[in-house]
Amino acid sequence: MPTTASPVPRHVAVIMDGNGRWAKERGLPRREGHRAGADSVREVLEGCTELKVEFLTLYAFSSENWKRPKAEVKALMVLLERFLKDKTPELIEKNVRLQAIGRLNDLPAAAVNQLHRSIEATADNSGLTLILALSYGGREEIIDGVKSVLRNVQEGHLDPAMLDPDVFGKHLYTRYYPDPDLLIRTSGEMRLSNFLLWQVSYAEIYVTKKYWPDFRKADLREAVADYGKRQRRFGAV
Ligand code: IPE
Ligand code: IPE
Ligand code: MG
Repeated sequence: MPTTASPVPRHVAVIMDGNGRWAKERGLPRREGHRAGADSVREVLEGCTELKVEFLTLYAFSSENWKRPKAEVKALMVLLERFLKDKTPELIEKNVRLQAIGRLNDLPAAAVNQLHRSIEATADNSGLTLILALSYGGREEIIDGVKSVLRNVQEGHLDPAMLDPDVFGKHLYTRYYPDPDLLIRTSGEMRLSNFLLWQVSYAEIYVTKKYWPDFRKADLREAVADYGKRQRRFGAV
């Protein structure tokens, strides 16, 4: 009997965690960890393209991360803007389409303007879709979804009786993407930290102890291989 090839997840979502601890272990400021994490992003992008993953969502900045010291938030925003500016030609060359989810208007103008330029510049690409979660919170997304539903009901576009998970999903930031199949978290923490709460209902979870800046293509392949061995039952037998 021929064995079937390991299934590749269509959508991989990553909680990129551990930059600060990576830096601390090296006696470096936290922002150096964030800077080093950019290399891991490139690795994972390449890895996903090679594996033919269709969607990659990266948790880059949470709603709660605004609580961090001003200087760290600023460093992260400058890094984001620079990353987008530097990498957009590479994204175009690699046929990657950039998208973003979250309360994007809360980002500093320079970052959000660059983000929109990069999204625009990659809009016609047909390869991997890279979705950056920025100023993103799962609860905030659900609240925004509820507000959108209420607006639609008030305006007579939606009959409340028709509301079900599929319909509600169309009111979320992620309405254009399938739910993640595989959720990876680095740095060993066993929590969701307000990431894609609605969408990960049936995602397979993979946690590695490695800090994000140490995460390489081989680690992605290992996570995907592990995913390939899972039995997904979705509540059935
Ligand atoms: C993840 O690394 C990056 C962001 C949350 C922006 P952290 O900065 O959370 O690193 P640790 O968890 O403190 O090590
Ligand atoms: C989650 O990491 C957010 C991102 C990776 C962007 P955090 O470091 O903010 O999460 P907690 O505080 O450990 O839950
Ligand atoms: Mg962290």
